[in-house]
Amino acid sequence: MSLIQRLSVLGMAAMAMGLVASHDYGAALTKSILFYEGQRSGKLPPTQRITWRKDSALRDGFEIGVDLVGGYYDAGDNVKFTFPMAFSITMLAWSLLEFGQSLGTDLQHSLKAIQWGTDYLLKATSVPGFVFAQVGDPYGDHNCWERPEDMDTPRTPYAVSKEFPGSEVSAEIAAALAASSMVFRPINRGYSARLLKRARMVFEFADKYRGSYNDSLGPWACPFYCDYSGYQDELVWGAAWLLRATKAPYYRNYVLANIQNLDKSSSFAEFGWDTKHAGINVLVSRLIKSQTPEPFITNADKFVCSVLPESPTVSVSYSPGGLLIKPGGSNLQHATALSFLLLVYSRRLSKDSRVIHCGNVVATPARLIQVARSQVDYILGSNPLNMSYIVGYSKKFPERIHHRGSSLPSITQHPQHIDCTGGATYFYTDNPNPNLLTGAVVGGPDIKDSYADSRADFAHSEPTTYINAPLVGLLAYFKSH
Ligand SMILES: *[C@@H]1O[C@H](CO)[C@@H](O)[C@H](O)[C@H]1NC(C)=O
Ligand SMILES: *[C@@H]1O[C@H](CO)[C@@H](O)[C@H](O)[C@H]1NC(C)=O
Repeated sequence: MSLIQRLSVLGMAAMAMGLVASHDYGAALTKSILFYEGQRSGKLPPTQRITWRKDSALRDGFEIGVDLVGGYYDAGDNVKFTFPMAFSITMLAWSLLEFGQSLGTDLQHSLKAIQWGTDYLLKATSVPGFVFAQVGDPYGDHNCWERPEDMDTPRTPYAVSKEFPGSEVSAEIAAALAASSMVFRPINRGYSARLLKRARMVFEFADKYRGSYNDSLGPWACPFYCDYSGYQDELVWGAAWLLRATKAPYYRNYVLANIQNLDKSSSFAEFGWDTKHAGINVLVSRLIKSQTPEPFITNADKFVCSVLPESPTVSVSYSPGGLLIKPGGSNLQHATALSFLLLVYSRRLSKDSRVIHCGNVVATPARLIQVARSQVDYILGSNPLNMSYIVGYSKKFPERIHHRGSSLPSITQHPQHIDCTGGATYFYTDNPNPNLLTGAVVGGPDIKDSYADSRADFAHSEPTTYINAPLVGLLAYFKSH
């Protein structure tokens, strides 16, 4: 068979399997970054492109004399949870550090998305001895279905301190600031230096006054963003990012001394706003080179073997349509975060000319990339429902996302105040949301590849800032490969 014939047979087989890669990664990338404008809190700039959103929460922190205006709403509600917000910024920065050269015209918008977060993280850490972990009473907020522009629930600020520590939220902020300082280094040296200085300071606070914000904030943090995995992982993660940003032996030694303390019983396939394990191993394997087998290399290899579907030690599930599934809500956060790590780690393997042996199964760098691509393609529409899970991308996408701003009429359409319970009719209607939160990626389908597209089904229909952040890096890579 000639090469052309072979290619066309391959092409037909791919078509028969519905695998034709007709995805516009570039368009999806642009949208996935635009999403962050819809999550903005505070005073919106004249350049705001999601124009149905307006200024909101302009007095956050004022009741205690601190300016806490800005930052991001984490998901479909109007609370500013600093822990997942900081993780989202860390992942946006990591996306740019690895794949920024593929961003093209999206680079400027990505930098703005990061800076909207880092400007807020600087405010949240501006009072020495305190770190603001949250703004907005989560019970009051969750009981209402209100536009951010209309909010009249208590905007209570919650801080951790020396006496009431929160090492996980503080160390995650340090990671976000350190990673972002590298992004801004070639563009704005002054800002980059400010971020790095603050990162060191916040890390020291996190390390010196150890404890979980779970205990310090109690019911205000948990059951919303409970820290299940403890704060040891964030301390090592924060130190690893500071090591990458500074190359300082202090952080290198800190990482090497404390990486052993990480809970060995937890699964190797854990990486998200709570658990950093797999991310630490992949990141550190890139930072600390050594000839002898190091635990983080062994553990990063185990991560790969716990994710690849053909591996004998796979610990995640796959839907019949091929989507990576882990228990709990917002499943696509796992598909994007774990795929991002596979892609980053494949580069380390290629550089070392190495493959991984999962029992008898050989995992090549190309296979890692292929699995990551399959997850991205699934999200873009290569799935049994032929729908994309990115709002505004392709012909069919989620229309009833669990998101207050998106589901209520905009201020332009409906200038009158809609109060706490006034939003109920908009919540319960079967009509599509009136405002397109372009680029929002929802929690995604269930293990049978079904998706109800129901506003009430928040575990599947709610977008979050941490689902999109690793996807930005993935889409940038696949756009140019
Ligand atoms: C945080 O609270 C949750 C729920 O009560 C609990 O399962 C978890 O172990 C706690 N985490 C820490 C680090 O104490
Ligand atoms: C999805 O697309 C494939 C290929 O075009 C088609 O065979 C299948 O019926 C579609 N499924 C749905 C649910 O639309």
